[in-house]
Amino acid sequence: MSGKIPRHVAVIMDGNGRWAKKRLLPRAAGHRAGLTRMIGLSDHIFACGVEYCTLFALSAENLARPKEELDALFALFCEYFSEYAEPLKEKGIRLKTLGDPALVPENVRKLMREAEEKTRLGERGTLSLAIGYGGRQDIVRACGLLAQKGEPVTAENFAAALSTGGMPAVDLLIRTGKEKRLSNFLLYEAAYAELYFSDLYFPDFSDEAFDSALAEFARRDRRFGKL
Ligand code: IPE
Ligand code: IPE
Ligand code: MG
Repeated sequence: MSGKIPRHVAVIMDGNGRWAKKRLLPRAAGHRAGLTRMIGLSDHIFACGVEYCTLFALSAENLARPKEELDALFALFCEYFSEYAEPLKEKGIRLKTLGDPALVPENVRKLMREAEEKTRLGERGTLSLAIGYGGRQDIVRACGLLAQKGEPVTAENFAAALSTGGMPAVDLLIRTGKEKRLSNFLLYEAAYAELYFSDLYFPDFSDEAFDSALAEFARRDRRFGKL
């Protein structure tokens, strides 16, 4: 891979339900296919030289979905945290989760914490999974944290108090699944991100589709307001 490589890539992994519907399968089958793709794609993203990969897996607003769907999603997250923490550790990838832990069932939270702990020394890259995450909620929480600590609200303190604290801003934000909106993802962190929308449903978003997004990113002229 040549050209400019983004340091921080974020992906809104949308379209699992429609992928399943198109195949007359239950929505849970779409989420299973989405998880399989997420595992392959995140490996590929780090292999391309990206240092930070942040994936939107479940929004705070998604928690209003039917219990049956949420149960299926949480079971998949449990499977992921228990089976993939070790391979991530071996690859030098640190796993982090973003979002409100109170929105996540206790058993999932426990596995999440164990996976974070197991991979915490990874230095090759940081994989962040946003689960029960909302950008607005995270901003409000960060403000509360600064107020509670009595810290001045500076850009630096504020960025550090966000759940993405310590990470660089997002360079490339990809959304799969046809919709063209942020759906409350990384509102502050993506202020100058290059936006890339793919019509593919997430389970169909191949490594080659990601390479096309990277190629497009390399062609973009990022001015950050300057001339
Ligand atoms: C994205 O796929 C995954 C989650 C939001 C959990 P969707 O479940 O939103 O799939 P569509 O948009 O209904 O196809
Ligand atoms: C955004 O997808 C959240 C995730 C992909 C996890 P949604 O399917 O929830 O977004 P909307 O409802 O179409 O905006
Ligand atoms: Mg959706």
